[in-house]
Amino acid sequence: MQRSLYWPYLAGQQYKRAKGSWLLFNMTVDKNHHYLFQAKVSDRQLECIGTAKDGQWLVLQDPKTGEKKEIYDAVSGAAVCSLKHGDNEILSQMNDFAKQSAYTFCVAFSNTAAEDLAEFMCSKSEGCFSSAMFVCSGSEANEQAMRYAVQYHIEKGDKERYKFISRTSAYHGYLVGALSIGDNPMKPLLKKMLLSDDQVPKISRLMPYRDMKPGMSEEEYCKMLLDNLEQTFVENGPEKVAGVFMETVSGSSIGNSVPPKGYLDGARAICEKYGALLILDEVMCGLGRCGYPFTFMDPEYGLSTGGPDLLTFGKTVGAGIVPLSGVMVAPKVVNAIKEGSGTVMGYQTYHSHYLNCTVGLAVQRKIYRDNLIENVREVGAYTKAALQAALKDCKVAGDVRGAGNFISVELVKDRATKESFPFENNMAKVLQEKTFARSAHFMCINGCNGYEYVDGKLVQHGTHITMAPAFGYSREDADFIVRVLADTLFEIEREYL
Ligand SMILES: Cc1ncc(COP(=O)(O)O)c(C=O)c1O
Repeated sequence: MQRSLYWPYLAGQQYKRAKGSWLLFNMTVDKNHHYLFQAKVSDRQLECIGTAKDGQWLVLQDPKTGEKKEIYDAVSGAAVCSLKHGDNEILSQMNDFAKQSAYTFCVAFSNTAAEDLAEFMCSKSEGCFSSAMFVCSGSEANEQAMRYAVQYHIEKGDKERYKFISRTSAYHGYLVGALSIGDNPMKPLLKKMLLSDDQVPKISRLMPYRDMKPGMSEEEYCKMLLDNLEQTFVENGPEKVAGVFMETVSGSSIGNSVPPKGYLDGARAICEKYGALLILDEVMCGLGRCGYPFTFMDPEYGLSTGGPDLLTFGKTVGAGIVPLSGVMVAPKVVNAIKEGSGTVMGYQTYHSHYLNCTVGLAVQRKIYRDNLIENVREVGAYTKAALQAALKDCKVAGDVRGAGNFISVELVKDRATKESFPFENNMAKVLQEKTFARSAHFMCINGCNGYEYVDGKLVQHGTHITMAPAFGYSREDADFIVRVLADTLFEIEREYL
């Protein structure tokens, strides 16, 4: 039997090589084994089998018992849903979208969907960006941005810039470059395969809750962060720095810290002074999640004028219906390439994927048609205020922070000292289970106050719980979220203090 000919028809059966030929034998399926190689390999995960109610509720099934449960997805998976899961308007057009699309390879042809989506997104940027490109994940988007920054400098005749400055306690993805510019507890284990420390110097984390010392003003805190950035430039040879990466609003590592007023303007000025590019990672916090088309546009803490040189986005652009992410490119960078080689370096098979961009464009048009970003701003402000009020007297609620509907609560053992629960308590798991028991799903993470390896064992400090519901969520949804969080945190207070 020729394996190459018959292989597609024989899925579900296994082969054994015997005397040079492929033999077939029946496969025994082990119901307890996790055939999908992701997350837990030692046990099977709950499986999503569909949506319920208004779509933001997921139906989960235990693969072993068949038991089903409906839960409200308060964090949209990983802050991905702009539209609710199962948005009927988009889903009912999927067949037409697929029929309109053909696969095109970006080196040979462009496609109208990618062109239209790029134009649409630039049109929402108030002139900050004149081009966009599309890939399939935030990690890829960040690596593209790294390459674009280096190419920008090469086009300008500067071939010595190869370093990227970025923050500690930041997440930029899990590819080699993206993980190198990030900071993640698994990083020390993978260190040898990542970029060297020399290539990715680190600056202070963004965490006013813990790093603004008593009596320190926002202005002083801002100055402290900017001094640290400038010093890092100087210590690492400013002429070697290609760019500075930062999440506009911190995402999963810290839990939604918002920068102090003036910080982004100051960071951009330092980048300009030393000829490096400012690259904002808005993969998790952007495209409406924090209440503005781009989060650097926030009048409180954003850039006071203009935009960054490059900006990465992802997650909400395709609403989780299709994998879509990308990079927004400022005229300065576009023009350098236009006036130089005229060609963007690098391409991948799924750059500007026709179907993905078609869906992304439909999602974006719907978001603007239905004023969903305004809804994020309004209901988000309502949610944060309600949460702060509900947790005012809760002894384990250390900090409520965030912007738009991207909001986190940091858990503490002692509000006065900000001491966290010991890592052995695994409070992320406790929060996950207690909120799940109340039929809601959040992102619960240990380590917002750093991590270390003690005798070879990982110890993470601090815990936070994050929400990021679909943009169109209602005040009733907000009330439900607040009730689940308040009931959970007061229960933890009773059980653990
Ligand atoms: C700020 C930020 N950047 C990049 C990424 C990586 O995106 P992806 O998981 O799509 O590769 C994430 C993912 O959570 C993120 O939060």
